[in-house]
Amino acid sequence: MSAPAARRPPRVACDQKRRGDPASASNDISESNDRAERLLADQAALSRTLEHRVTERTRQLRALMFQVAMAEERERREIAADLHDDLGQLLAVAGLKLGALMSDDKHPSPELREVNELILRAKMSVGSLAFQISPPVLFELGLVPALEWLAEEMHRVYGLEVEVRDDRKPKPLDQTVRAIVFRAVRELLINVAKHAKVGRAEVDIRRNASKLVVSVTDKGVGFEVRPFDKPQTGGGFGLPSLRERLGYIGGALHIDAVPGDGTVATVSAPFEVKTGAPGRVWS
Ligand SMILES: Nc1ncnc2c1ncn2[C@@H]1O[C@H](COP(=O)(O)OP(=O)(O)O)[C@@H](O)[C@H]1O
Ligand SMILES: [Mg+2]
Repeated sequence: MSAPAARRPPRVACDQKRRGDPASASNDISESNDRAERLLADQAALSRTLEHRVTERTRQLRALMFQVAMAEERERREIAADLHDDLGQLLAVAGLKLGALMSDDKHPSPELREVNELILRAKMSVGSLAFQISPPVLFELGLVPALEWLAEEMHRVYGLEVEVRDDRKPKPLDQTVRAIVFRAVRELLINVAKHAKVGRAEVDIRRNASKLVVSVTDKGVGFEVRPFDKPQTGGGFGLPSLRERLGYIGGALHIDAVPGDGTVATVSAPFEVKTGAPGRVWS
């Protein structure tokens, strides 16, 4: 079947081209230039639309992840309160009753004393667990006292001595920012205890313009930092998930480490998160 006549190039134009008509050739050139320009403009508009959609989707995703982080934090606080109020209270009552029994008995048996000791240890464990899950001091008193408490815990649990320094400038932090930064510092300190082969670390808390900056320094074995989109060789999810969580609130993690020459891990975060509306409290 032959093509419709309209699609065929006009015979005259072909004849003119063949004869090398300069006016027609320059018309053709300017027409194809126009077409190329229109194509380029369309392409630029398309890429602007795509870019806009990607930015919008990223913003939505970040807002969603922020909501998830906030919900998780609420959940943690509830679990910690349940642990403390329910299990903690039951153990406290059991301890009191046992104490009364033992004081009635002039010579309590070694088994009774052992049970008393176990209850005491269980009470301490519950308290410490509740604190680890969600330290009330973080919300009641702020990030600095919570990090000071964490330093004591690190010493008690891992034998790591931690010095906490604060520049004493006011830091008006969202509750979510507090919680995420607290958990980040905790992970970094546990990393020092687990990997750095050193008995000491320093935590510096500073205000830099309208940003919170916390660095964790150790003079341990250091390590080779891989690009952040690749997991550390043999490493777990600690650093990647820390980085991701900081990303939700517009923060960042920077690691300066050299094998054999210690590690400085710096967490930075805005004071408040724009996407949500968590209660603002002063650190
Ligand atoms: N302060 C540190 N000193 C020495 N090595 C470290 C330190 N922090 C992290 N690392 C190295 O980085 C790796 C990745 O850490 P992380 O992502 O927290 O995973 P994990 O602690 O579960 O191994 C660790 O396995 C360790 O090799
Ligand atoms: Mg880790």
